[in-house]
Amino acid sequence: MGNGIAQVFAQHGFNVTLIDVSDAVLQQAVNRIEGSLSKLQQKGKLSAEQVAGARERLGTGTSLSAAATSELVVEAVSENLALKSKIFRELDGLLDPDAIIASNTSSISITTLGAVTHRPAQVAGMHFMNPVPLMPLVELIRGAATDQEVIDTIHDLCLRLGKTPVLAQDYPGFISNRILMPMINEAVFALMEGVGTPEAIDTVMKLGMNHPMGPLELADFIGLDVCLAIMEVLHQGLGDDKYRPCPLLRRTVAAGHLGRKSGRGFYSYAQEAAIAR
Ligand code: CAA
Repeated sequence: MGNGIAQVFAQHGFNVTLIDVSDAVLQQAVNRIEGSLSKLQQKGKLSAEQVAGARERLGTGTSLSAAATSELVVEAVSENLALKSKIFRELDGLLDPDAIIASNTSSISITTLGAVTHRPAQVAGMHFMNPVPLMPLVELIRGAATDQEVIDTIHDLCLRLGKTPVLAQDYPGFISNRILMPMINEAVFALMEGVGTPEAIDTVMKLGMNHPMGPLELADFIGLDVCLAIMEVLHQGLGDDKYRPCPLLRRTVAAGHLGRKSGRGFYSYAQEAAIAR
């Protein structure tokens, strides 16, 4: 999601440095941003000047030191506590003491991430939704030690990004995934038990409940490994068996079928993956 977050900041007048592990990965991210900006221009949502401005404001780097002078860093690495903690420690040593470190985590504790730094008051959650350029919500998460001033700053920032911020307290899954993931997990149970085909389950939720995507289609879009990781956090953090990940979700992830990004999940995307490569 990092490319979408960087794009939205650049679109709204902020200088952004997108950091990733290699030039090849960064090039893919820049290509995605280019594609999205062109689409938004084609649809009349951005002018040619706005697209050019966004491109100018976007830089890239392969080292965290490229963020050393930033006032805000939004971390968006995979849902892995050890990896996020390592990055938070490193950023804490690099950034100005007043800088804010935010995480785009979908379920990992902001309080825990804040505690690995010497600035827990300036650590918060900024949870964007996918696809970031289109989705209006940003869930803001207040850790146990987060300053109200920091929440006010990131709240105003979201408004400047054209997003609607909603505040959640730091409990597993926050608001969004506390509600979304059990629904997706239940859809996987319904599939495992043969209650309906993937198409039937998704059609019921799309046409019966007006959801833009069915739960299985949405799970493929989010990434089945991400869905599983979030269910594990809910199960462990809330200690209730109603959050146990469905065995079919575990099995599908174990098979390497991670959804759209791997070309197969509950549906097959062979053609799409081939085009993306
Ligand atoms: N940038 C610019 N344009 C984009 C885009 C992007 N990143 N992604 C899609 N579009 C464009 C599409 O190309 C398409 O353009 P055309 O009309 O020219 O074809 C247009 O947006 C609309 O897309 P679709 O035609 O595919 O149809 P849609 O109306 O269904 O919109 C959608 C797509 C907004 C993704 C919609 O299906 C939707 O809202 N789905 C649910 C998304 C959702 O629930 N997201 C949250 C996931 S949870 C999460 O992110 C957090 C977590 O912690 C797990």
